Amino acid sequence: MSVLNGKKILLGVSAGIAAYKTAELVRAFIKLGAEVKVVMTPASKDFITPLTLSTLSKNPVHSTFYDKKEGEDELWNNHVDLGLWADMMVIAPVTANTLSKMANGVCDNLLLATYLSAKCPVYFAPAMDLDMYKHQSTKVNLDKLQSFGNKMIPATSGELASGLIGEGRMAEPKDIVCFIEDDINSKLPLKGKKVLVTAGPTYENIDPVRFIGNRSSGKMGCEIAKEIANLGAEVILVIGPSSQIVEHSLIKRVDVKSAEDMYNACHKYYSNVDIAICSAAVADYKPSNTDNQKIKSKNSSLIIELVPTKDILKSLGEAKDNQFLVGFALETNNEVANAKEKIKKKNLDMIVLNSLQDKGAGFEGDTNKVTIIDKHFKENVFSLKSKKEVAKDIINEIIQQINA
Ligand code: CTP
Repeated sequence: MSVLNGKKILLGVSAGIAAYKTAELVRAFIKLGAEVKVVMTPASKDFITPLTLSTLSKNPVHSTFYDKKEGEDELWNNHVDLGLWADMMVIAPVTANTLSKMANGVCDNLLLATYLSAKCPVYFAPAMDLDMYKHQSTKVNLDKLQSFGNKMIPATSGELASGLIGEGRMAEPKDIVCFIEDDINSKLPLKGKKVLVTAGPTYENIDPVRFIGNRSSGKMGCEIAKEIANLGAEVILVIGPSSQIVEHSLIKRVDVKSAEDMYNACHKYYSNVDIAICSAAVADYKPSNTDNQKIKSKNSSLIIELVPTKDILKSLGEAKDNQFLVGFALETNNEVANAKEKIKKKNLDMIVLNSLQDKGAGFEGDTNKVTIIDKHFKENVFSLKSKKEVAKDIINEIIQQINA
């Protein structure tokens, strides 16, 4: 999956002949799963129509500070909102004129106002004729724009619209996409790391048709796995019986059933990982015997003897080499004290505490409320959030700790 999947991209188009290539660029972004909005300089509409770009982006295209349709009130196109909406702004092509204005804070059209308001990373792809590209003032402006932190996607050499051959052609749309993907990938904070995540319940067989299980949906662990993969790490997701669907090129899913299966899978991968996060709701007990045949109903009571399962997290704590080990604690009373006790008992670097006393926390639902406690017993209390947001908080804490 591309790092552009799910990203909000604001494409700015200025008035160069290369503007016709932005149709292909919008298509490429959309194909990779990005959402695209386009702002144009008024003059760029002579090179490509807003209709083409709005059809391809499936969003209205704006080029003026307000739109006026006959018989209707004027509608202000809020450049601040556009800038805030975007995860990144890509300005392509950037002509000598737009370049000079961007470098000097000129704000006489919607594209420039949006650029000045944008808080997101900005990529720009210059395009101009050979001599304009070489001009001293262009060089100064290109350097100035980059010194502001904007990323330049360099122009290439080739045949130019003037008929001259040389440097100044806008990078091809596929190369613009690659440039941005590579740039994002190189900055991912977990790039090169391997992470083991456990998720879901375990089922402990009583007989071929019955089992002891719990209500864990596996959602929390899956959100953690996805979030880690989005930050560039390879994830081994060891997951008990769960209907969650996880699709990500960096996630290897290992389906298991019982605590014993989960134990074996975790130990198979543990020595090669940098971080292990055990969010699974592992059964603490299993039947001492599993019947090979279905147990027949009788009129007397049935006693099933239960024996403890292996504590996977504790065993990982004992086998710890350099791994950063994170556990979960689901508590109903004396929450913080119990969680701290688990940090010590299981040799953890961090624990994520859920209290069943908190509404919206725990199994099944889409929300969770956690307190994260580090190995020095520093507590960080979070509010009720979606499991996706909670996953982000947990991973941010881990990143801070491993970089500390
Ligand atoms: N865990 C595990 N293997 C088990 C039981 C629990 O790896 N057999 C892990 C869970 O994945 C979680 C942590 O241990 O990260 C804590 O689980 P929890 O059920 O809260 O605690 P327990 O250690 O089982 O202790 P208790 O049930 O007594 O609170």
